[in-house]
Amino acid sequence: MKNKYLNSLAYLGVGGAHPGGFQLTKYILSKEEITNEKKILDVGCGTGKTAAYIAKNFRCNVTALDVHPEMLKKARRRFTNQSLPINVVEGSVENVPFEQEMFDIVLVESVIVFTDVTKTLAELKRILNHDGVLYAIEMVLESNSEQLSLNAIKDFYGVPEIFTEQEWEQAFRNAGFTSIKIEKYEIDEADFNLEQAPEFELSNNENMDEYYAMLFDHQVLSETFKHKLGFRIFKCTL
Ligand SMILES: C[S@@+](CC[C@H](N)C(=O)[O-])C[C@H]1O[C@@H](n2cnc3c(N)ncnc32)[C@H](O)[C@@H]1O
Repeated sequence: MKNKYLNSLAYLGVGGAHPGGFQLTKYILSKEEITNEKKILDVGCGTGKTAAYIAKNFRCNVTALDVHPEMLKKARRRFTNQSLPINVVEGSVENVPFEQEMFDIVLVESVIVFTDVTKTLAELKRILNHDGVLYAIEMVLESNSEQLSLNAIKDFYGVPEIFTEQEWEQAFRNAGFTSIKIEKYEIDEADFNLEQAPEFELSNNENMDEYYAMLFDHQVLSETFKHKLGFRIFKCTL
């Protein structure tokens, strides 16, 4: 993969690699009634932390999709180690190998921004059951940023655009979602525990120094732009 930031996450094996972290994942899941008949898709599953949690705790039908082979290698290892019957699919969310209306819940944790948003949202709408729900966690531009800062952020993440909350809402509407509930989640530092701690599973790769450097740069970037760059939960239905 060309995206250096995503490669660094894959080769460092960062689990729960989305804003809000695993605490936010659990918060979102706690809002849904998940019975064991539900079909859930984790799009851009990364190393599979969320998919594993869902399969283990709700015993439902879980599919994990990602485009990055190194991510999927680690996700598969996690699922095998925990004996979890998760369907793992390698492919792009811009063109997914699933039938229409296949899933009751689609979870997308910090993925759409790295893709062609129009193609991705059309696919997500296509595969979502008519009564289903899509949860997306995406980074948002909080304030009109001067071009220089915006370019620095886009370059770092290797993304074509970073939307404001309103631009995301419009994109979901344009794709055909009729209800879009937007939530700004405040991380609760008091609720922090080991399960939510950053998780790493290192690869043996010749570029590891570069990936460690990116991790450090990411800390600096997040701190520098903490008032410009935020994130939201988008709960979308058809
Ligand atoms: C920031 S990481 C988040 C990973 C995971 N959702 C998590 O929270 O730990 C973004 C993930 O999206 C995946 N991804 C990027 N573009 C994709 C695409 N077109 N189709 C499927 N997955 C994609 C990356 O490989 C990576 O695993």
